Amino acid sequence: SKLVGLVGWRGMVGSVLMDRMQAEGDFDLIEPIFFSTSNAGGKAPAQAKAHSTLQDANDIAALAQCDIVITCQGGDYTKEVFPKLRASGWQGHWIDAASSLRMEQDAVIVLDPVNDNVIQKALAAGGKNWIGGNCTNSILLMGLGGLFKADLVEWVSSMTYQAASGGGANHMRELLKGMGVVHAAVADELATPASAILDIDRKVAKTIREDVPTEFFGAPLAGGLIPWIDVQLPNGQSKEEWKGQAEVNKILGTEATIPVDGLCVRIGAMRCHSLALTLKLKKDLPLAEIETIIQGGNPWVKWVPNDRAITVKELTPASITGGLQVGVGRVRKLNMGPEYLSAFVIGDQLLWGAAEPLRRMLRILLA
Ligand code: HSE
Repeated sequence: SKLVGLVGWRGMVGSVLMDRMQAEGDFDLIEPIFFSTSNAGGKAPAQAKAHSTLQDANDIAALAQCDIVITCQGGDYTKEVFPKLRASGWQGHWIDAASSLRMEQDAVIVLDPVNDNVIQKALAAGGKNWIGGNCTNSILLMGLGGLFKADLVEWVSSMTYQAASGGGANHMRELLKGMGVVHAAVADELATPASAILDIDRKVAKTIREDVPTEFFGAPLAGGLIPWIDVQLPNGQSKEEWKGQAEVNKILGTEATIPVDGLCVRIGAMRCHSLALTLKLKKDLPLAEIETIIQGGNPWVKWVPNDRAITVKELTPASITGGLQVGVGRVRKLNMGPEYLSAFVIGDQLLWGAAEPLRRMLRILLA
């Protein structure tokens, strides 16, 4: 079986990947070599055919033994190691969660339920670099891939509600700490039904301004939101916003660019990214037909009828978190005209948004 090197398997995305690989029996099909940046020589996780000691993740020769390397170690690692590994003549497959190589000409952004055709074409042409997409874009396309496949989308405006997990484990902790700080500031008053809500609110506002931790997010997230994700670009977009059009079109392999743009906002969800979308379709189709096309996009689409009771139960982080289903709902025609459609898409940022496309690419390479 193929020698598969795993790097960055201990971090958050890496841990989710390991769990999924375990659940799907991927380890039965490979000979895993676990790498570490800090603990080479230590004991590797127990897997059937795994090599027993951790290898040094910066040892190019050790990496070069692998037929396939999967890394969730992050962009700095990729930038440091990948060029050296290729320069050593290594011809193996590189599967990477980080964004560093995503827009390279010889890299494919992998999301096979949506772009298996692009992946297969690149494979046939000798492609070897397989990069996971930005979480928001992968979730958008897992939800509405059917419309894109049917070539119905003229443009998309994408307003996002992105979870703390997109920042990392420390960011999730900071959100929870902040929630605790806010609650603690008014716990006594809350316990007294007669206390005045505006007094509580004043205390909460002060606490959010002064006491909620901001080390990782740079602004208070608990009890609030942050309307900026990632660095600022000269054109006024955030980098996260820039990725929308760049990656969606690259994933789909479009010839004519489909405009994708909107604002990316961090909210206090743990690990579900959501998107409120306005789509301009290329033609006026009956809603029932649109629903069928969306539902047929892939087996993970969880269609939520545009009905209040079902929506508030099924189209929420509470319902979607930790699972592979991507919720799609709030689909209706907008006042702007019969080609204008709204949709709300929600998915687990760590699964389809990060780990799942990587292990599925591994499976494609093993097939
Ligand atoms: N950049 C994303 C976020 C996560 O901050 O939510 C990585 O895809």
